[in-house]
Amino acid sequence: MKLNKVVFPVAGLGSRFFPATKATPKEMLPIVDKPLIQYAVEEALDAGFTELIFVTAKSKTSIRDHFESKLNTELSNLTKEKKELLSKMNKIIPNGVSCKYVFQEEPLGLGHAILQAKQLINDEPFAVILADDLIDTKIGALKQMVDLYNDTNSSIISVQKVDKASSIQYGMVSIDEGSQNMMKLTDIIEKPLPENAPSNLGVVGRYIFCNKILKFLENISFGTGNEIQLTDGIKSMLIAHPVYAYEFEGTRYDCGDKLGFIKANIEYALKNKIFGDDLEDYLKNRLKI
Ligand code: UTP
Repeated sequence: MKLNKVVFPVAGLGSRFFPATKATPKEMLPIVDKPLIQYAVEEALDAGFTELIFVTAKSKTSIRDHFESKLNTELSNLTKEKKELLSKMNKIIPNGVSCKYVFQEEPLGLGHAILQAKQLINDEPFAVILADDLIDTKIGALKQMVDLYNDTNSSIISVQKVDKASSIQYGMVSIDEGSQNMMKLTDIIEKPLPENAPSNLGVVGRYIFCNKILKFLENISFGTGNEIQLTDGIKSMLIAHPVYAYEFEGTRYDCGDKLGFIKANIEYALKNKIFGDDLEDYLKNRLKI
């Protein structure tokens, strides 16, 4: 079955970014001039997805506003350039692509957030993007994964090599056989201590799931952090259905973390055509290098 649907869970507390995220979802924080969620949406569009499903908190309406509200291009004092700019801002979502919104009443975990989209997903396979994992790459990470999904028709989760000492921040996987980039999962553990991490491969926020994952998510109980963990759903699914890990090409920034967010801003700003060179001069000067 063709992949059309992608779920963006954006209902988390974002407590590591308080107070910035008290009234603004973490996914609306900008990297230079674009909110994280827009990078994620563009990655999904580039990978060919046409049905975007946002799992949001009721109190945080800005994500919907960002994609749905229209700027008034008829303001009396607009210059031609401003008018063009406003029109461009009104076309983030291209024709033929739908956006749907569903609420997660309480932030009971990523697995729980995905389950809230069950009716919209219906019986189709679907992708999940965690917008706070920003991946800088020529070919979008999700696009890289779609080709593999089409070959295998099995669930795929993206991974990267991480320092084992930081395993406490990741879902960590162990793998069986496979070719260079395609590895069959044998286990997955949410945020293990370094001594319990089964390998140095940590899960990053890009997934493609066959529809069966929903059934497994419905049957798990609260896990690490007292949340319904996606990791636990994947772990129970593995026993009956193959899941593959894919080591994507690209640089990932953990923008749910302040340092990762700042690094991403610096890297994307350095690439900016207008002020990137000025920033580089400033940094060299500042650091005396
Ligand atoms: P995180 O654990 O990184 O986000 O979840 P968080 O809980 O919002 O962040 P902190 O730890 O309090 O700072 C990864 C993704 O899953 C979403 C988040 O919005 C984020 O995009 N999420 C998480 C939900 O949508 N609902 C949840 O219950 C938990």
